[in-house]
Amino acid sequence: MPRVFSGIQPTGDPHIGNYFGAMKNYVRLGEEYGKNSIYCVVDLHAITNPAAYDPAQLSKRTFEMAVANFAAGLDPSKVTFFVQSQVPEHHELSWVFTALTPVGELERMTQYKDKSEQLESVPAGLLMYPVLMAADILLYKADTVPVGEDQTQHIELTREIARKFNHAYGETFPEPKAVYAKDALRIPGVDGHGKMGKSKGETSTLGILEPLDSIWQKVRVAPTDPARVRRTDPGDPDKCLIGDYHKLFSDLPTIETVYAGCRTAGIGCVDCKKMLMEGMRRELEPLQARAADLRADPDLVRDALEQGAKEARAIAQPVMEEVREKVGFLKSR
Ligand code: TRP
Repeated sequence: MPRVFSGIQPTGDPHIGNYFGAMKNYVRLGEEYGKNSIYCVVDLHAITNPAAYDPAQLSKRTFEMAVANFAAGLDPSKVTFFVQSQVPEHHELSWVFTALTPVGELERMTQYKDKSEQLESVPAGLLMYPVLMAADILLYKADTVPVGEDQTQHIELTREIARKFNHAYGETFPEPKAVYAKDALRIPGVDGHGKMGKSKGETSTLGILEPLDSIWQKVRVAPTDPARVRRTDPGDPDKCLIGDYHKLFSDLPTIETVYAGCRTAGIGCVDCKKMLMEGMRRELEPLQARAADLRADPDLVRDALEQGAKEARAIAQPVMEEVREKVGFLKSR
């Protein structure tokens, strides 16, 4: 039985880029693989980046990320969903892999280079980040890893670590493959400056749990095709981020109407944006209502996460036992 694993950063409010690029994909894979689709909120990874980590916020963000995924349709009774720090085997396997991984390989990772460049003092955890990620995946002997394209290099390293371990200790781990979201079109930020979430602050993102009024305030002022200076100027909806968003949120007849209307100047940008809001409301309102229900019952959410951690450990513990034995640790009696 193939097994799916992915890690989710507990970084505040997930945006529509995360939603279409990752979360919906988890739900879809969950329907296919059931309990063999394993998802984990990676709080151990979160503490490696001093620029993004706040101890006063971490547990809240971890909880919120679980709520967001459950609200988006991930059913914890059907998949395995847990918090990384609640399964200590992740650290344990990570150390064994640390001993196998050449520092030079880690220093070549693009994400490490980008992040460490901005820091005066670089924590070793930032360098080890991909080793912990390899441990996450291989602890469950997962072979399928849904990720963004920016993680390709880390998955390649995971394969290398699996090969190295298998070579040193005998066939143990599969070499996992990355899978990318089917419609992983690059979702532009609402400020018009590149991909959503990549530019600074919240001006580029539309949160899936963000109040719809606040979303409208950003959509209202979002740049459209610069060719449409006046209401009567025709535009190109393929060059407009509102056109891109319609493809995510609107039904086919609406998409056809706004695309044709933009090209002929039959509709103005404000009306086009209002039509987009209808689609967003249809998608996000029920999701936000589910999130509100979950927040009102935190014990339910925490029970689900603890149950998930139990299920994860039931897979992880025998794998760790196998690893300890192969590595040569004296078994405790
Ligand atoms: N590095 C991943 C990211 O930033 C998160 C992650 C941690 C992950 N462990 C993982 C993804 C294991 C897939 C599998 O998105």
